[in-house]
Parts: sequence; structure tokens; C-alpha cells
Amino acid sequence: MYLFRLGREQELSRAELEAVFELYGWHVRVVVEQGPFFVVHITEDIDAAALMSRLGGVVKIGKRVCERDDTGTIADYLEQIQKEGKIIFSLSGNLDKRHGLAIKKELKQRGRSVRFVEANNTATILHNNLVAFQTDLTVVNHTVFATAAIQPIEAFVERDYGRPKSDTKSGMLPPKLSRILIHLSGIQPNQTMWDPFCGSGTILMEAAAMGFTHLLGSDNSQKAIDDAQKNMEWIVENEKKKKSFQLFVSDVRTAERFLKQGTVDAIISEPYLGKPLRGHEPRSFLEKQAEKLRQLYVAAFKTFFPVLKRHGVVLFIMPRFRLGDEWVRVNCVKDIARCGFSVQPFFPGKESLFYYRPGQKVGREIWRFAK
Ligand SMILES: C[S@@+](CC[C@H](N)C(=O)[O-])C[C@H]1O[C@@H](n2cnc3c(N)ncnc32)[C@H](O)[C@@H]1O
Repeated sequence: MYLFRLGREQELSRAELEAVFELYGWHVRVVVEQGPFFVVHITEDIDAAALMSRLGGVVKIGKRVCERDDTGTIADYLEQIQKEGKIIFSLSGNLDKRHGLAIKKELKQRGRSVRFVEANNTATILHNNLVAFQTDLTVVNHTVFATAAIQPIEAFVERDYGRPKSDTKSGMLPPKLSRILIHLSGIQPNQTMWDPFCGSGTILMEAAAMGFTHLLGSDNSQKAIDDAQKNMEWIVENEKKKKSFQLFVSDVRTAERFLKQGTVDAIISEPYLGKPLRGHEPRSFLEKQAEKLRQLYVAAFKTFFPVLKRHGVVLFIMPRFRLGDEWVRVNCVKDIARCGFSVQPFFPGKESLFYYRPGQKVGREIWRFAK
């Protein structure tokens, strides 16, 4: 039994996990879903570190170590896993500091030297080496899990802030979200992916880091393509990957002539989301902008159709603009369906997922379509 602690965007993280389970062909039974905790039974023995190095939305992976969560049982586990020297452990989930201190007291009475740490962040877990010791414990529904892998935050931060070229004006997708989108597409690393609004290349960079070898990127801005070229060269060098990407300048509406028909497996893109907003634009402005974007997106899907393979997938972000307590949306799903695409829901009855940070003026709807 495994525990996945989902990231802040719980629904997205959960959808990513399910997509990855399907991609790997694992037989998975959901045991508990409780806030950020997702407990599953997997028939295969999983390599938690390898799985973690791929995921964008999971914070921790734990393996079940005790089936009961009373003080004595947890103390027995800790004594046995750390046979000599000081026991350093942490406890989170359904049990809290009070329980941690009771376990500490019990171990002391048994003559062990022990320290309980409150591991509120991954830095504390890493600093105290708790993953290697198997002593970062999470309790969910009376079952105790020891963390077997934690999210490689530094690697994401390095790709986000350490890359040669950034574009704060057009905006950049967070690398974790880019990775989630790639997984949601169900595409395999040897298949062909195209980002037709690639900007400085965040989605392509994540795909390259994940080992994808057939990457295409285009944008109507020469500067964006120059930046994406530098970023991609950097990532290929940094991650020691094969240089196998192609970038070109093109308006999405005429990009068809650069690509062979029926050759692309998946299109994954955060398109142009409209002019940056100050936050006090009137409804008329937002509605006009939404209509312009609708026209651009429908034209884009007309281009996508011939270049995609049969059953090819499109992972596409559509903006929602904040207007007081309401949202102004780009309504183009019906038009996209008329171009020959069908919506692929993420969960039963859940056609799109929403990514939004409080205070932002634009929210992002994530849609999945199939040809
Ligand atoms: C929101 S940005 C994409 C950012 C990208 N996801 C990243 O994280 O680096 C949108 C991009 O679409 C490009 N763009 C705008 N209109 C376009 C069009 N008609 N055809 C192709 N690209 C376009 C812009 O130059 C911009 O780089």
C-alpha cells in the first residue's frame, strides 16, 4: 500500500497520478482519499524515487510500515528500523505533535536516545535525512507510512529560475504544472509532441528533462523562439539528454505548412491568454478579449486537426478572467467539437480542471481533447 501526498492543486495532482498509473499499466485500487492524502493499493512493487523524479504534482510518496497507529506499535517500528544510535523521527497526517511526543517518551523509557522533529517542509526532512532513515511518518486512517521519496524541489526551482531566458511579460507556466500537463496527455517519451505557442519553452523544457525525444515548438515571435532555443540547449546539456527538438517561427494559424500531416501524437500548449490585465477592466473589455481569443483558439484547432495522428490528443489551457466575484470565460468548446475533437474528461463528469492562485486576474482552465 502506498501513500501519495498531493500538492497544493489536489485535483490536478490526483488526475496526474491516475494518468501515470495508466501510462505504466499498473493495477491500482484506491483505498483512501482524504484531503491531500491519496492511499492506493498497487500490485507492482514500485520504485518510489524513480516515480517521484517524474511527477509534477506529488509532494511525498510513502510506503506502509504499520497497520496500527498506537504509540507502542509506532515505537516498535522505530526501534526496529533504527537498531542503534539516536532515533530521529517526524509524524504528520492524522496524528500530531502530541502523539509524536508520546512516542518519544515511550522510546526513552525503553532506553533509546530519541529526537522528535516537526517536519513541516521538505528541507527539514532532507536536513535530518529522514527519507534514508525511513522515519518521516505519516498516519492516514490508522495506517502508518514511511516516506520513501520526496519532491525534488531544487530541480524544479533550478529549471524555473536558473534557465538562461525568462519571459515575465508573456508569462511562463510553472514547471510542475507543465509536467502535469504532459502526463495528462498520456504521451510516451518516444512520441511526437508540439507546443504551438511555446514562448520561452517551459513545456518543451520539462518534456526534454523527462526524456522526450521528438519535440516541436513554434511561436509567432522570433524572440520567443530565440529564447526557447537557448533554454532547450541549456536543458539538454544540464540533464545530459539527446538534442532532439525543432523550433520554428510561425503564427499558429499557418503552422500547418511546417509540419507533415498526421505526424503529431500530442499538442500541449498554454496559448496566448490576452493582454495583461490591471484588474479594473470593464466587462465589455473582457468579453471582447474573450471573443478574440475564441476566434484564435478555434483557428488553432483547425490547424491541429490535420497534423495530429488519429486519436491524437490536445492539452490546452483556456483563460478565465476575473470580474468582481464572477468569471468571464472563453466559450469555444462547442466550436472545437465542430472541428472534429471530443472532450476527454479527467474524472467522470469533470471536463476541465482549474488552476488559479488567489489574487490573480486570470485563471487557467485545463482541457483535454482527442481527435
Ligand atoms: C502565454 S505565452 C506562452 C508561454 C509558455 N507556455 C511558457 O511557459 O514559456 C503565449 C505565447 O503565444 C505567442 N503567440 C501569440 N499569438 C500567437 C499566434 N497567433 N500564433 C503563435 N503564437 C502566438 C506569444 O508570442 C507568446 O509567446
